[in-house]
Amino acid sequence: MDVFNKCVVNMGPLGKYALQGEGYYMFPKLEGPISNKMIFQGKERLVWSLNNYLGLANHPDVRKVDAEAAAQWGLAYPMGARMMSGHTKYHEELERELAGFVGREAAYLLNYGYQGMVSIINAMVDRKDVIVYDSEAHACIIDGMRLHFGKRFVYPHNEMSKLERELERATRLVDKTGGGILVITEGVYGMSGDLGKMDKIVKLKKKFNFRILVDDAHGFGTMGPTGAGTDEHFGVQDQVDLYFGTFAKSMAGIGGFVAGDKKVIKYLQYNMRSQIFAKSLPMPMVIGAMKRLEMLKNEPEHREKLWTVVNALQKGLREKGLNLGNTESPVTPVILSGSIGEATQITYDLRENYNIFCSIVVYPVIPKNTILLRLIPTAVHTLEDVDYTVKAFSNVKRKLENHKYSEKLKEQTVS
Ligand SMILES: Cc1ncc(COP(=O)(O)O)c(C=O)c1O
Repeated sequence: MDVFNKCVVNMGPLGKYALQGEGYYMFPKLEGPISNKMIFQGKERLVWSLNNYLGLANHPDVRKVDAEAAAQWGLAYPMGARMMSGHTKYHEELERELAGFVGREAAYLLNYGYQGMVSIINAMVDRKDVIVYDSEAHACIIDGMRLHFGKRFVYPHNEMSKLERELERATRLVDKTGGGILVITEGVYGMSGDLGKMDKIVKLKKKFNFRILVDDAHGFGTMGPTGAGTDEHFGVQDQVDLYFGTFAKSMAGIGGFVAGDKKVIKYLQYNMRSQIFAKSLPMPMVIGAMKRLEMLKNEPEHREKLWTVVNALQKGLREKGLNLGNTESPVTPVILSGSIGEATQITYDLRENYNIFCSIVVYPVIPKNTILLRLIPTAVHTLEDVDYTVKAFSNVKRKLENHKYSEKLKEQTVS
């Protein structure tokens, strides 16, 4: 059998929709400056699908620093991996700033959040250790665990009694192997918007011996009194052992970081394979991240504006009877019941008739007959955008309940 056979026979779980969906539902092209309104297929649309939470992506101060850094340094410097030849005082300075902001002793930069997380997990556990993780863990956590030779136990999303049961199992096992336990949670779950119950998880440390790693990709910059993250929101920064953040969301950049105790970060610096064997972050990313971090710290107005939009959007949608699940973060899922066919009709209706562009999630990512339309509010949205969107979603809900989308589907199948 030719290993390339699968490329024509079975394109994989997402690739099988490529023929019908590519360019529209998958790999759409959003054009023009990053903002609340962008061009999709030649027409201006109201965009609710970018993790540009604080609106920094196209902020003039950010653009200026990015451009100046690119002019001064180019994209090549520093060349090589940090351990060999790609290390600078600017990388170190950014790490000190990040550590201070998230209330940790030290931090280390990651040249992509995803690879960074894979290597944090890979470095932190060995064959004797057990990982206990939430069932809705992001793909980067799952991929990190794929490299783990020891056991891993999953608990149903945010169910603390089940976490406790898995911790009991894990404890019995490590008592025999002589290993330790790593619990992995997210700060903000990116699909549902609900928070990892860090306040409850840390309480279990009284009963069990384990370390906690939090992936706070969506919480960094958005959650907590100063935007330092979901553990700041819960007031448990001193009990969360390893904090992971990405620059790809609130910071509107690229790269990420891990923060914790000095000795642990030093260990990671020498053991994260995806960082040791790959090029370090180029200078414009580092200088640009410093600017963004300074704005995160000194300009709370971006976060305040974000939350004004979040609160108005979530209140408006809830008042119209839309189900937003348990979100407590800016991530705003609109959960509807319907088939995959109806989901595509809704997305088409929103895009073509209301000029609203948002992401759509269906089975097998979420349960059968559930449709999740995910809205990501940002500081560059306006309250007019919110009013318009609330009305549009209220219309969509009514049409779905009156079977308008399934009728349309039938018409299309017949013709
Ligand atoms: C929860 C979570 N973790 C990690 C990542 C990966 O971050 P990056 O985009 O920096 O690779 C993402 C980004 O999509 C994410 O949502």
